[in-house]
This record gives sequence, C-alpha cells and structure tokens, in this order.
Amino acid sequence: AKAAARFVWEMRDVIKTMPKRQQASHKGTYGKLLVVGGSKAMAGAVTLAAKAALRSGAGLVTIAVPETMYEAVANRVPEAMCRLWPAEGGAFAGAADWDGLEIDAIAVGPGMGRTEGVRRLVNELVRQPVPLVIDADALFFWGDYAELVRERSAPTVITPHPGEMARLLRRPVSEVERDRFGVSKRLAMEYGVYVVLKGPYTIVTAPDGSQYVNTTGNPALAKGGSGDVLTGIVAGFLLQHEAVQPAVSNAVFVHGKAADWLVQHGHSSWDVLASDVVDALPAVLASLT
Ligand code: APR
Ligand code: MG
Repeated sequence: AKAAARFVWEMRDVIKTMPKRQQASHKGTYGKLLVVGGSKAMAGAVTLAAKAALRSGAGLVTIAVPETMYEAVANRVPEAMCRLWPAEGGAFAGAADWDGLEIDAIAVGPGMGRTEGVRRLVNELVRQPVPLVIDADALFFWGDYAELVRERSAPTVITPHPGEMARLLRRPVSEVERDRFGVSKRLAMEYGVYVVLKGPYTIVTAPDGSQYVNTTGNPALAKGGSGDVLTGIVAGFLLQHEAVQPAVSNAVFVHGKAADWLVQHGHSSWDVLASDVVDALPAVLASLT
C-alpha cells in the first residue's frame, strides 16, 4: 500500500490558499449558508456558529431553529435571517419551512438535541446537493444516514470530537485516542467525507486519505461552545474556497489562532469564552491579508 501522506498545515499554507475578497463582488459572491440547530437547552450554540460564519466572510446566513428559539435567535444575530424547523421533543410535525430559500451550503448540529425530529431533519438535509458540515448532535444519528452520505456528490465535512468519533465508529474513545490518524483515514475513505477529528493537534483527513495536522489552539478552547464556533468558520470558508481541504484546514487554523491571539492579548486560558473566539477572528483574519 502507498504510504500515507501527512502534512502539517502551516501559516504559509493558509496565506497561500485564503481566497481574496474581490472588489467587484456582492453578498451572493460569498455564498448563502443555512445553519441548522438549536434547542431550548442549548440556546447559544447555533448563534455562535452563525456569528462565526458571518465573521469568516459568509455572504448571507440563515439560521433555522425550532419555534421555541425563534425570538432569542433572531434578536441575537441581527445580520442573519431566520427560518423554522419543526418540533423539538419527539414529534416531527410537518416539513421544515424552506420555501424559496436559496442555499450554497448547510451546517447542521450545534445545540440540536437528539430528538426524533433531529433524526428526520438530518436525513432530509443529507439529501441536499450542496456542501454540508455535520457536527455535534447531528452526528449522533450517523448510523441512520451514513449510506446516504456515501452517495452524496457535494462535499461532506464531519467535525467530531473524540467522543463523537468513538460513537460513530462504535469503538471505545481510548481506541480513537490511540490511533487518531488511522481511524480518521478509514472513516474518510470509507464514506468519502472530510473528517475533522478535534482536540489538540486537530487532524483534517480528505476522502483520498491525505491528512493535515493543525498546530494552533490551546486549552482556552476547552470550553462549551468552542466547537460550535469552529463549525461556523468551516461552513463560512467552504462557501468561499474553491477546494475543500484548504477551506477546512484554514478554518481549523484560524479558530485555534484566535484562541492563541486571545491569550497573548490580555486573556488567560481560563477566562476565554467561545464568543471571545468569534470576536478575535477580526485580528486573526486581518493578519492574513
Ligand atoms: N487544545 C487545542 N484545542 C482544543 C483544546 C485544547 N486543549 N480543547 C478543545 N479544543 C478545541 C477542539 O479542537 C475543538 O475545535 O475546541 C473545540 C471543542 O469542540 P467540541 O469538543 O465540539 O466542544 P463544544 O463546543 O463544547 O461542543 C458543544 O457539541 O460536541 C457537542 O456534546 C458536545 O454539547 C456539546 C456541544
Ligand atoms: Mg461540539
């Protein structure tokens, strides 16, 4: 067998591959994103992801949430539009409200919960012919829709932390931690997906098995909400890059770099909030131009 291609994704790779903002452009140039998530118990996750996507350059973001969340989310992200997906807590009443919605990419998962409604919704979204980021609770139902993922022709990115990866593979977490490269590669190649196995030295694996290790980030990110921010950046960058792997690797790099910037500018690794990471994106992105 051919030796595995493994790379460290560095600042110079980021600078080389970051797409430039064109003078002659408008919001449609940078893509329309649908961020699907939210539940009463995890009200902030979907707004963090949406804000991160906007801060990363997405042209237009629509957030889809259950009805119970509508007011909170609409008020928290004035730049985003808002749609409804039906019912948390078991029943899936009717179809989601996608009428007239144009989308170039979807991110699904942040703070959704693990209800029957979520299961059905994820199965619906996986069928859409646009790039898709699957995170958090949407990964809980992987077994249900994995075969559909294999058949997708638009890119699919999954962003599991080691616990979510273990559940996907139905293996113990210890096995994931022991062989982060191996398990990522097998999953990426088997399903034709980009796998972002999170944690220190996050590994991005492409469907061809090539692997890109990230070196930014620090324990300030070990706090609820960090992953939701990453999901938003990944989706925002997917909209703007030609190639998927640089988009995903750049997102992981910038996310970690924002946390690094914070601890170098008056924050400690104790105090950093996920929303601070979103707010540090301007400094990091400005350093890349
Ligand atoms: N060093 C570098 N990066 C780190 C470190 C560290 N010590 N700790 C965490 N990170 C980064 C990870 O690489 C990842 O990008 O922070 C992010 C954490 O993402 P998640 O583990 O998904 O955490 P969280 O935001 O809390 O997830 C929110 O989603 O996964 C579900 O069940 C989870 O309900 C929770 C929700
Ligand atoms: Mg998470």
